[in-house]
Amino acid sequence: MYHLVDLKDLNVNEISELIHSAEEFSSGKIIQYSNKVAANLFFEPSTRTQYSFETAEHRLGCRVITFNKEASSIKKGESFYDTVKTFSQFADVIVIRHSENNYYQNLVNHIDIPLINAGDGSGNHPTQSLLDLLTIYQEFKCFAGLKIAIIGDIAYSRVAHTNIEIMERLGMTVYCCAPEELQSANYDYVGLDDVIGEVDIVMFLRLQLERHERFLNLSLSDYHELYGLTKARYLRLKDDAIVMHPAPVNRGVEIADELIECSKSRIFKQMKNGVYMRMALLHKALL
Ligand code: CP
Repeated sequence: MYHLVDLKDLNVNEISELIHSAEEFSSGKIIQYSNKVAANLFFEPSTRTQYSFETAEHRLGCRVITFNKEASSIKKGESFYDTVKTFSQFADVIVIRHSENNYYQNLVNHIDIPLINAGDGSGNHPTQSLLDLLTIYQEFKCFAGLKIAIIGDIAYSRVAHTNIEIMERLGMTVYCCAPEELQSANYDYVGLDDVIGEVDIVMFLRLQLERHERFLNLSLSDYHELYGLTKARYLRLKDDAIVMHPAPVNRGVEIADELIECSKSRIFKQMKNGVYMRMALLHKALL
């Protein structure tokens, strides 16, 4: 059974195969699973992940079920486990996002169709990391030796946790930059201005204000000056450096508004790549 809940479960070869497969889909490869049903169970808001999964499923010819929590039997007391177990009786693959870390722990041994984690709380976001890796690979054709600065809300960011682990495993040097209150004890930290001129990639993270607004000891404009991509910092980037952000972006906070679509920005390319990488994952799951 092919579940993807944590990127640590994939080895480097499996990740390379997924990148290769996603590139084939981006070049127009067509595979159809017209008799397969994909169920998307999003218990937390999402624009990119939910609708790029839907787009990927449609492009693969699947029938798509979009779960609506408000109109489901959860309103009558049905448990999360029973909801997922129910969908596993009539779908061929289930995609789940949930606000609870490791929500999948009690599911993986009881669900006999593939389960893909579309983000769990501040834990993991494996499909986002894979599309980030695809974007980096398209740019540099390698991972080992690249340097990346990951900046911002490290403590609460599932994207940061997943990316730091896999990027280090792939031989990249990862610098973490964050105000003290947004640091996680698991990593070392450097000053953004100490590394911005030497990295190949700057990845800014969304301030997860819904999780911790009251803990941030900085105004949003001070945060931007200290940890954001300002015009002055942009001018210090290497010629071939790229700017990434998983989005949604707090415009003018993590990145100056006028830089979001600058020539070094790959933010919207990341979103496009999300469809190809999710096609690759669904293809692997449905084979
Ligand atoms: N990057 C990301 O996960 O975006 P959504 O929350 O819109 O899916």
